[in-house]
Amino acid sequence: MYTRAPATLSDKPADASAIQAVVPRHVAIIMDGNGRWAKKRGMMRLMGHRQGAKAVTRTVEAAARMGVKTLTLFAFSSENWKRPADEVAGLMDLFAKVLQSERDNLHRNQIKVRFVGDLQRFSTKLVTAIDEMEELTRDNRAMQLNIAINYGGRWDICQAARALALQVQAGEITPEDISEERLQEQLAVVEDVDLLIRTGGEQRISNFLLYQCAYSEFYVTDKLWPDFDGAALQEACAYFAQRERRFGMTSEQVQALATQSK
Ligand code: FPP
Repeated sequence: MYTRAPATLSDKPADASAIQAVVPRHVAIIMDGNGRWAKKRGMMRLMGHRQGAKAVTRTVEAAARMGVKTLTLFAFSSENWKRPADEVAGLMDLFAKVLQSERDNLHRNQIKVRFVGDLQRFSTKLVTAIDEMEELTRDNRAMQLNIAINYGGRWDICQAARALALQVQAGEITPEDISEERLQEQLAVVEDVDLLIRTGGEQRISNFLLYQCAYSEFYVTDKLWPDFDGAALQEACAYFAQRERRFGMTSEQVQALATQSK
């Protein structure tokens, strides 16, 4: 009931438009470094998260302006429950506050908001606010913003597998019908990631969009998340634009495909 189901499957990755894209269609961000940002200033970790929320607003606006179609932000992982109770409570409070304060701004900017992850563990109040936000913005078309909370890549693959198992059990499909595409259609985030950004300097995927990042370009910056802004996003996108995406092909094949499609 609370588990967010996917909408539609976008283009497959290995087509000419994905290879030639200058602006990544789907940007995903592991927002890391809030704690270190606060510590450097002798502040409590929660202050870092609050500044991080401001960076979220800046980044969403910049991404929409640049023509990014989908932005997925890792706001709270399945593993983040292990953090000190006051930090977890502070983050929940912050999510609720941001939902309220950014509601009109997001809607005015035609951003469609979805929360992806296992929402069962959140308070009814927060889930109601999430539902209202999703309902309000459901027809918006400028950009899709996925906020991943209580999300884990392994959880996502597992819930997709369970959905397919139920379809088999109901006699809707046979085990032979199960394909990569069908599995992907059941993921909480359906679209392949073009550009994965991680702030805070660590070179880890941290159980984020494991299936969806199969062919994404990976950009790590030492910048801490609260310092991230539109210019930093542009830098990441400039890096993306000069990458040759091969999707398993040779460089020559990629160039031939690009010529054909001109
Ligand atoms: C990781 O930094 C950050 C988080 C676990 C929380 C992310 C939350 C926000 C950016 C705030 C608001 C978000 C939304 C969507 C409203 P860390 O605390 O692990 O940093 P550290 O590695 O420096 O300790």
